[in-house]
Amino acid sequence: MNIDELKSVAEAIVARQKGILAADESNPTIKKRFAPINVESTEENRRRYRELLFTAEGIERHISGVILYDETIRQSSKHGIPFPQVLSERGIIPGIKVDKGAKPLALQPGNKITEGLDGLRDRLAEYKQLGAKFAKWRAVMEIDEQSLPSAYAIRANCHALARYAALCQEAGLVPIVEPEVLMDGAHDIGRCESITSAMLETLFGELDAHGVVFEGILLKPNMVVPGKKCALQVSSQQVAEATIRCLRRYVPTAVPGVVFLSGGQNPEEATDNLNAMNIMRGNCPWQLSFSYGRALQEPVLAAWKGEEKNVTEAQRAFSKRCQLNGLAREGLYNRSMEDS
Ligand code: 13P
Repeated sequence: MNIDELKSVAEAIVARQKGILAADESNPTIKKRFAPINVESTEENRRRYRELLFTAEGIERHISGVILYDETIRQSSKHGIPFPQVLSERGIIPGIKVDKGAKPLALQPGNKITEGLDGLRDRLAEYKQLGAKFAKWRAVMEIDEQSLPSAYAIRANCHALARYAALCQEAGLVPIVEPEVLMDGAHDIGRCESITSAMLETLFGELDAHGVVFEGILLKPNMVVPGKKCALQVSSQQVAEATIRCLRRYVPTAVPGVVFLSGGQNPEEATDNLNAMNIMRGNCPWQLSFSYGRALQEPVLAAWKGEEKNVTEAQRAFSKRCQLNGLAREGLYNRSMEDS
């Protein structure tokens, strides 16, 4: 394992004013994203949409890396240039989602386990050949007010994340380790903080036990937020306080960066919360950045609607979200910038 190389890729991903575009929706997920704009999820429509994203003007100023899906890493631009090359030529690092999704965890009603470890060593070698320099694996924790997730589900998912991360480092890919506590439900912010804490504590124990080198990973957690149906919603300052407290307690200082998922927050909220954290970060040892899917793409899909004539407008919407999140990543964003 070449630690220096892993470290330099991880650090480049969390460079100043930059973060990640998560464009690794699986085919069933992108179908859900296309449905409201009445776009059929054909292979060619998925290719056209990803090309729109990857060729938008100026995004390399704020996007350091893009997470691709298995189909997408094998696709090319309309000029026949493979997407990983399209990105690398712009100075954007290609990455790849390698988990195979969350399935029900046996004998643990309501809990899920992410699959995809079998054969992963060979798949990682192929993705590396195709140009990937980092990978992503997402564990999904359903949460309620009392019993979900179970302690066993936390352990099982963290164990899988650690096995994945070790295989990535062996293959020379930076693992993006994603333990997502969902924001669906009516639980309050305190419940999210306690489950996120348990998850992070277990995760770093497992990563350590598997010999994973913390300097060569990135953490992709949820922010600490109340459930969407909770009556008590909170300000971005409160989200930032709870999230930073939780990270300070459980994330080792050797980890170069934390790249948050957006998890269903609306685009402005996700930008606001990231901004509040960077204002409040003080002497946090890790960079605090973004790896957003929906929060970067929602306005793009709404502007595009599958039509060629809307491509420029959709790319403009995308460049704007990238720029605003690049500023939020430095604590330099404010809501009035949304209107310009
Ligand atoms: P969201 O930002 O839409 O949560 O997606 C990020 C991601 O990559 C989830 O795995």
